[in-house]
Amino acid sequence: MITTQQYQEDYHRSIDDPEGFWGEQAKKFITWFSPWEKVLSGGFDQLDVRWFQGGKLNAAYNCLDRHLEIHPEQAAIIWEGDDPNESKILTYQALYDQVCRFSNVLKQYDVKKGDRVCIYLPMIPEAAIAMLACARIGAIHSVVFGGFSAEALKSRILDADCQIVITANEGIRGHKIVPLKQQVDIALQECPRVRTVIVVKRTANSVPWNQERDVWYHEAMSKAHPHCPAEVMDADDPLFILYTSGSTGKPKGILHSTGGYLVYVAMTHQLVFDYRPGEVYWCSADVGWVTGHSYSIYGPLLNGATTLLFEGVPHYPTPSRYWDVIDKHKVNIFYTAPTAIRALRREGDHWVTRTSRQSLRILGSVGEPINPEAWEWYYHIVAEKRCPIVDTWWQTETGGIMISPLPGTTPLKPDSATWPFFGIVPMIVDDQGNPVPDGKMGNLIIKKPWPGMMQTVYRDRDRFVNTYFKPFPGCYTTGDQAHCDVEGYYWIAGRSDDVIKVSGHRIGTQEVESALIQHQGVSEAAVVAMPDPIKGQSIYAFVTLKTGIQPSDQLKKECVQAVRETIGPIATPEHIQWTEGLPKTRSGKIMRRLLRKIANNDVSDLGDLTTLADPSVVDALIKERRNVK
Ligand code: WT7
Repeated sequence: MITTQQYQEDYHRSIDDPEGFWGEQAKKFITWFSPWEKVLSGGFDQLDVRWFQGGKLNAAYNCLDRHLEIHPEQAAIIWEGDDPNESKILTYQALYDQVCRFSNVLKQYDVKKGDRVCIYLPMIPEAAIAMLACARIGAIHSVVFGGFSAEALKSRILDADCQIVITANEGIRGHKIVPLKQQVDIALQECPRVRTVIVVKRTANSVPWNQERDVWYHEAMSKAHPHCPAEVMDADDPLFILYTSGSTGKPKGILHSTGGYLVYVAMTHQLVFDYRPGEVYWCSADVGWVTGHSYSIYGPLLNGATTLLFEGVPHYPTPSRYWDVIDKHKVNIFYTAPTAIRALRREGDHWVTRTSRQSLRILGSVGEPINPEAWEWYYHIVAEKRCPIVDTWWQTETGGIMISPLPGTTPLKPDSATWPFFGIVPMIVDDQGNPVPDGKMGNLIIKKPWPGMMQTVYRDRDRFVNTYFKPFPGCYTTGDQAHCDVEGYYWIAGRSDDVIKVSGHRIGTQEVESALIQHQGVSEAAVVAMPDPIKGQSIYAFVTLKTGIQPSDQLKKECVQAVRETIGPIATPEHIQWTEGLPKTRSGKIMRRLLRKIANNDVSDLGDLTTLADPSVVDALIKERRNVK
């Protein structure tokens, strides 16, 4: 722990002398096979940023091998199953052994350095093993969240050109079966280049089998050689691709580096969670999201920590589950999302107070703004005012935490992500890029490169440049709205673009619209966000039907189904409003600002409507709104 004054001094140094600062951190947190030639080269002007150029390292070596000399018998992973009677521990030695074996399995199936490997697994230790095995042999993993549909899986496999998929026969969440292999089978009907599917047997149920293509994980592992050297990787060799939604087009493959990413996640994990040797650390995020990558797997394992992986859900078998798991495994640091906090708060305090939670020392929040009620409940009821709350702001693209308190260092203000991490220079600007005065809302941008930042959009550099660097030249655009108070505290309000955060999951409105028009009866669709007391936001869809098609409950079900099949259940529209016409400007642009107001029943001041091609749609939309439950 450092003092507030020390933070301020170090922060200034990190900005004034980034090479000196990050060079030191890179040596402290990472073991390099050979040193870099230059800490930082290039910049945001030419978009030629490189961190630790020439440095050689391996991610799996840093997560595993180097800890074996110090604590081979310490738990690396505590796995808690969906069923509260099922849990197991993998020591660093055991995890190392499994990762080496699986690395050899991958090699046996012809996976080479630079190849992309798709991982579509539930929250089981094999997910970590598969990721680390890829890293060990220099393959690039692309983890796809197990809740995504076959269609979404397919487009990710094709975009990254994966030739191998790792999955499970089935997953289990909240006592329900998740048919993963079935989704893979459907997806692969249109992925001719996938030659191998490695299947973890998570349940006893049998699944259809393709002899030429499918391989049981346990069979391959039992025959695999237990040693595998770690491939020597360049600092800027890619470590992984992770797809995320934006305001336009298909999800983007965010590409992260090896050297810069690892330095950044190791350091942020250590400082933001003040991790102390021997402690049990639990991040409840699924490995299918960036939080799972950076703060369930890489960050904690780089620091030799014990990380808990939880297969289940907060409500099963009771709403005490999170707190029961904390007591069972004596969790010291717990990191979760506001949506889970709100959902558990609604269930009543007794589910919390009947548990001990004495082991807890630090609580974290991530993924969306945490509202005052949720923050206070987390602090007063869950933490019993004993633990600081770190509200961490960051993104898939940033690789690691960007704005967050450091526990014991930053004086907290409820609901504020507080101050920037070392090396991070945020700024709030208006739409023209001019800085706004303190306290005024604006666009959050980042002025200088940091080691955890994305390298590019996989195979689409134009999209990388246009999305992140065109709106405010020379700066990284976050897509978030925020303000900064006179004491330099940042308050993140939410997205300024057409991205919706449903239960902390990032969903592009355009993706949902394209899914809806998949339905034969649908002519046009426009999707907006609506505030939701538990999920933060929910999806509200305006749908126009083709001539002769009548609205009905059945049709509504089919539209919802189209979205679930194209994206997954996380993108399910909460409300569908059948409408005769969408409000369009004379140039044909849908006026979403107006739709947002109508969806939210906030129609007293609709603003300037003079550019509408047909102003009469407004009254119709307001009238139709009354029929939506
Ligand atoms: C978006 C990024 C960060 C890892 C998980 C989500 C929102 C994230 C916070 C926070 C307010 C937050 C932003 C951001 N967000 N953390 N602490 N307070 N908003 O990663 O899926 O890439 O989403 O999540 O809107 O842009 P992601």
